[in-house]
Amino acid sequence: MKPTAELSHEHQAILKMIRVLGTMAGRLESGKAVDPGDLEGAVEFIRVFADRCHHAKEEGLLFPEMEKAGVPRDRGPIGVMLAEHGEGRRNVAAMAGAIPGIRKGDGRAAGVFAAAAKGYGELLTQHIFKEDHILYPMADARLSPAQQDSLEAAFADVERTVVGEGRHEEFHRLLERLERSYPD
Ligand SMILES: [Fe+2]
Ligand SMILES: [Fe+2]
Repeated sequence: MKPTAELSHEHQAILKMIRVLGTMAGRLESGKAVDPGDLEGAVEFIRVFADRCHHAKEEGLLFPEMEKAGVPRDRGPIGVMLAEHGEGRRNVAAMAGAIPGIRKGDGRAAGVFAAAAKGYGELLTQHIFKEDHILYPMADARLSPAQQDSLEAAFADVERTVVGEGRHEEFHRLLERLERSYPD
């Protein structure tokens, strides 16, 4: 699979978990209980699948290849994407930090989680749109076939070393389970 096609495919899974988080946030905001184990599962998915795997492929591999192909990092789309990844990490840290309070029944922690989850969803939804429609087409046009081939191999390495064999499937099962428990 073309490297950007693989990344766009991962975006679809991330968007599904963002919908789950939106439902969780809505329930928390209306004072309903949400299983803290499910909140932890959603945060773990975002941390590992979205951040350590997907964002690592972009930051460590795709963006540097694009820079080599002449796309500027600063004052350009790559710099914007990197800043948004950083903002997303802050939202995820806020979600994770609120879970112990939610376990103790702290309503304020539920509000913190809900606000961070909604912020993350809004940020990543527009971020993903920009990558799919602006940045990835730019990469497709600028990267040589050799660069694309080496990216494809390097992405497979990330899957093996960062996520681990079998773990990818586990994450997809978690996503499907949470989608059933938290429909729109
Ligand atoms: Fe990104
Ligand atoms: Fe992305």
